Amino acid sequence: MSAISRSSDSFQLGVCYYPEHWNESLWEDDFRRMKELGFSIVRVAEFAWTIFEPEDGKFSFDLFDRALDEAHRHGLKVIMGTPTATPPAWLTERYPEALNARQDGVVYRHGQRRHYNYSSPVYRFYCERIVRKMSQHYGNHPAVAGWQIDNELNCETNEFYSDADHIAFRQWVRTKYGTLDKLNEAWGTVFWSQTYTDWQQVYLTRPNPSDSPNPHQLLDEKRFISDNTISFARLQADIIRESAPRQWVTTNGLFGHLDNHAMTSELLDFFSYDSYPQFSAFEDPENTSSLRDRKWSLSLSETRSISAHFCVMEQQSGPGGWVNRMDMPAPRPGQMRLWTYQSIAHGADMLLYFRWRTATMGTEIYWHGINDYHNRPNRRLHEVAQVGEELGRIGNLITGKSFQAQFAILEDYDNSWDAEFDAWVRPLRWKSKESWSKALQERHIPVDIVYMREGTKLEDLLRYPVLVYAHATILTENRAALLDAYVRGGGTLIMGARTGYKDERGQCRMIPFPGFAANWCGITVEDFTLCNPNFPAASAQWTDEDSALPTALFNEVLTVESETAEIMASYTSQYYSGGAALTRNRHGDGWSWYLGSAFTEEAVHGILDRMGTPSPADGWADLPKQVEIAIRGDIVFLLNYSHEPVRLNFLVQVNDLLRSGSLFGNIELEAYGVLVIQR
Ligand code: GAL
Repeated sequence: MSAISRSSDSFQLGVCYYPEHWNESLWEDDFRRMKELGFSIVRVAEFAWTIFEPEDGKFSFDLFDRALDEAHRHGLKVIMGTPTATPPAWLTERYPEALNARQDGVVYRHGQRRHYNYSSPVYRFYCERIVRKMSQHYGNHPAVAGWQIDNELNCETNEFYSDADHIAFRQWVRTKYGTLDKLNEAWGTVFWSQTYTDWQQVYLTRPNPSDSPNPHQLLDEKRFISDNTISFARLQADIIRESAPRQWVTTNGLFGHLDNHAMTSELLDFFSYDSYPQFSAFEDPENTSSLRDRKWSLSLSETRSISAHFCVMEQQSGPGGWVNRMDMPAPRPGQMRLWTYQSIAHGADMLLYFRWRTATMGTEIYWHGINDYHNRPNRRLHEVAQVGEELGRIGNLITGKSFQAQFAILEDYDNSWDAEFDAWVRPLRWKSKESWSKALQERHIPVDIVYMREGTKLEDLLRYPVLVYAHATILTENRAALLDAYVRGGGTLIMGARTGYKDERGQCRMIPFPGFAANWCGITVEDFTLCNPNFPAASAQWTDEDSALPTALFNEVLTVESETAEIMASYTSQYYSGGAALTRNRHGDGWSWYLGSAFTEEAVHGILDRMGTPSPADGWADLPKQVEIAIRGDIVFLLNYSHEPVRLNFLVQVNDLLRSGSLFGNIELEAYGVLVIQR
């Protein structure tokens, strides 16, 4: 049972609330109306440092004591945020060393949020003190269910270049490498005479001509940022565990340069995500070619890879936008409810809307809460009331049940951080991720994301009959051994161009491409080219059928090295016309596919057709492309992302939980409609 389900049998629905933003006379009515909507939990305080500590060392809990007591009187549970994302002006004015800086040394100043660094000893002192004071004060409060550490670690910026960060990085590399010789080797400093002869010469990357720092140093910089972020979160988690041992601990967000898997397994009870699907609305309003808000499902799969059961700490509850940017249209009728079920379908057991009422001041006056300023009923409130009523009835049938997927996309932090800076790889990763997620969505094949980590075991991989590891340029010996065993053990592994040529330092191996993967793929790469508008990617053709397989962004010409490997498609243009583009190899009891390109949607569909990968809807439901299927235990979610009604056909009778009745045959699902079915 997950930590969330342990804390309650029913689905916990709620909202982010800022008592400090409102006249106290509103609180009673606000909490009463929350309860009426079916809410059971509110998050507070994550930006309220100056309320708790208006002056250095002077603490005041009165305002939140009154707010929490009022929430408690209304039967609401409370999540306390630690306010360390918003240091008070008195602190940063007195201790500017607590502030973050840009790479060029310009220091971020008071006036926004997240302008601090994780390294400064003085900032850590103040953070520890406020978190200790708060957790001691609220550790036994009957309303407090748990804690959110900071707010969205590494949001706004995930780069840190203050003096304190340079010093902490120097210490980090010393611990990692021990000697300068080892550091010089790992960073390849013999290239362009970058050799370090004293630790004092070592910094985080700094401004340089052409904005091109040493790539191996930059990869370590990201690893350092991740470790440093986790160590900042650890300070807080340890204090809360000590002072508030009966309350759970989480943090929210999914941001860069942070190994959320390590942080969660080392520090948290579960992970929380903030879901704003409207960020995708800028693209393709007609929803013809991209997934738009359905893309969020992949981020939710990523969240699920961190915590099988998670909390959505902030669910978009209206149009969004800061006063100066991120201008978003209003969610159409039904869309907020759809997004809520999207989160739940993917594993949320607790969900809070952001936010109760739109702020009347500050940067977020266009980031809409459920309530407008006037507090009269509106469309958003009606929609949330419907969700509250529905989850009150069926929520406990969903919570604690696990998402079902037979297909997984492999990821790892080394490759995603290395590729951020690598112009030969970054576009391939984006393209392939988009193609795989779209094709799998359209074919109604639910997908998990699995991170390759130090502790990843063969059985973690063998749970999935099929794995895609599209462009693992960094492939360590351990990971290669695991993948080899997976394929030999009966799995099907699909890989793409630029696999396996780097080691964990990001340096290139002096063996044929695709490095260790040649073993299970049964091929090597004899020639290759990056493709761009001046050198378009070649077309290819399937061996078994007279149909085209478009390639994208990169072309590798493959040589078959093993008797068990076969050519599935060959190039039909460019100077390598006739060369192998896609191969399949029988390795042990499994199969290994290798495409010498980024994956286009057509390539993905062609591979899945040939593998015969089933959908869990097969045999009982015909679903149109617009509908996503997600399954948790015996509960099936069918979500229509289109702004038109669609038709579904049930081949067997199914139990419709939301409308309490059965469904059979051809039925219409309204625009943005949701079906929750028990099978
Ligand atoms: C989140 C953040 C919230 C609020 C929201 C809307 O990233 O945690 O505090 O800013 O976005 O912008």
